[in-house]
Amino acid sequence: MNGENQKAHWDLKYEQGLPSLAKPDPFFISAYRRFVEPSFPNAGAALDLACGLGRHALWLATRQWRVCGVDLSEVAVKKLSQAALDLNISLDLFVGDTSEYRFGSARFDLIVLFYHADRSLFPKVISALNPGGLLICKLSLRWDRDERSTAAITDLLNRNELPLLVPDLHVLYHEERQVRDRGVVEFAGRKAVPGSLRSDPVSIYAPSEKNDSPQKAHRRPSCIG
Ligand SMILES: C[S@@+](CC[C@H](N)C(=O)[O-])C[C@H]1O[C@@H](n2cnc3c(N)ncnc32)[C@H](O)[C@@H]1O
Repeated sequence: MNGENQKAHWDLKYEQGLPSLAKPDPFFISAYRRFVEPSFPNAGAALDLACGLGRHALWLATRQWRVCGVDLSEVAVKKLSQAALDLNISLDLFVGDTSEYRFGSARFDLIVLFYHADRSLFPKVISALNPGGLLICKLSLRWDRDERSTAAITDLLNRNELPLLVPDLHVLYHEERQVRDRGVVEFAGRKAVPGSLRSDPVSIYAPSEKNDSPQKAHRRPSCIG
């Protein structure tokens, strides 16, 4: 899908309403409590990439975070602006393609990326994080081995690909599991602080090719939730 089609596609979806994107994702809340809150008890600057209706942007802004949001869909951003107005909070919103957004460098303490997989974003994300800043993200994965059901979908990452896209982040949490005919990756990582020997607890669960059934995945201990 090209940019115009992508925009029309999402505008239509948001006009019809997307109730599934109304409430913050449970992984976002868990990762926030576990990794973000202890590091940034007084909030900070956050960027919500492909923010949609802003379920995470709004949640953060009501907790004193200064939040920037970017999304292609004018309809979503209009609804988000109205929601912010209703809550009497201010957000810095950009309507457009994330590729056109000026990330800058060392601007954000937290970057949130949920369900918009664009491999070209990750170097910009790393550069835009402050030292010690965190990336919290959750993305769909291509899961089937024969890839017939998902081959046509280009915006899916492959299994175990995400950590390779953010080599400069220290992995705090990484889990991959199957969800219907796809997979999902949940990830939290921290940008290093130069000269710091800080070591965070690491929780990683990325199932191997041989051991990928959802039942097995669920039996494994998960550090979040
Ligand atoms: C599945 S929704 C997720 C929205 C939000 N991250 C959330 O979890 O609630 C995907 C979002 O990505 C946005 N999007 C798709 N392609 C984009 C692009 N190239 N640049 C910016 N936003 C984009 C869509 O408009 C849509 O809001």
